[in-house]
Amino acid sequence: MKILSICGSPRRGNSETILLEMQKLFKEKGADNEIILLREKNINRCHGCIEFCNPAGICCQKDDVSPIIDKMVESDGLVIISPNYFQMPPGLLKDFMDRSCVVFASGKDELLKNKKTVIITVGAEKVEESEVCAKNIANLYCRYVGKVVATKSFQTKSELKGNYNDIFENGLNPDIHASLSSAVEALLK
Ligand SMILES: Cc1cc2nc3c(=O)[nH]c(=O)nc-3n(C[C@H](O)[C@H](O)[C@H](O)COP(=O)(O)O)c2cc1C
Repeated sequence: MKILSICGSPRRGNSETILLEMQKLFKEKGADNEIILLREKNINRCHGCIEFCNPAGICCQKDDVSPIIDKMVESDGLVIISPNYFQMPPGLLKDFMDRSCVVFASGKDELLKNKKTVIITVGAEKVEESEVCAKNIANLYCRYVGKVVATKSFQTKSELKGNYNDIFENGLNPDIHASLSSAVEALLK
């Protein structure tokens, strides 16, 4: 099994830490897991020129989006993780989501639509807010790119502690290890 994890955080923070922890779990289960950090990629904003991509079946921009979409197609399952920014994903991930629209024109939506997908969000305020962000990602994106098998949301304390990686030790997510294990199970079964 090949699982592709996509990290939408523009910084090296809790989202990335969670993906590294999940990578250990995938390894224990014998699954291959590649993590893509969008912050390290060249992701241009969508120009909205559907009059080009619709008939052409390709995007007019040459950056890292198309190779990532190809990796998504080749994978057996996806993890998409995002910080909650005002109940939405950060612009970095939203740009990637907007650019992914080309899957319709290219026919890759057919290859992606049943892809098992786990959506995870993190946020510094109450977890219910990050759950809205997860729902927004699921509604806007996974309705055509993936089949959502689990959504998980966790609370961070980053700003208060001046710490980028508090998710496992801040005491706000007592069930995080069990939650991540169940997400991994849902993807691999
Ligand atoms: C621009 C911005 C907006 C944010 N908005 C919210 C928010 O509306 N609700 C929330 O719970 N946290 C919010 N946060 C906090 C982040 O979700 C939190 O710091 C999270 O840990 C970031 O994920 P990361 O550690 O993976 O980068 C915001 C942070 C930034 C930078």
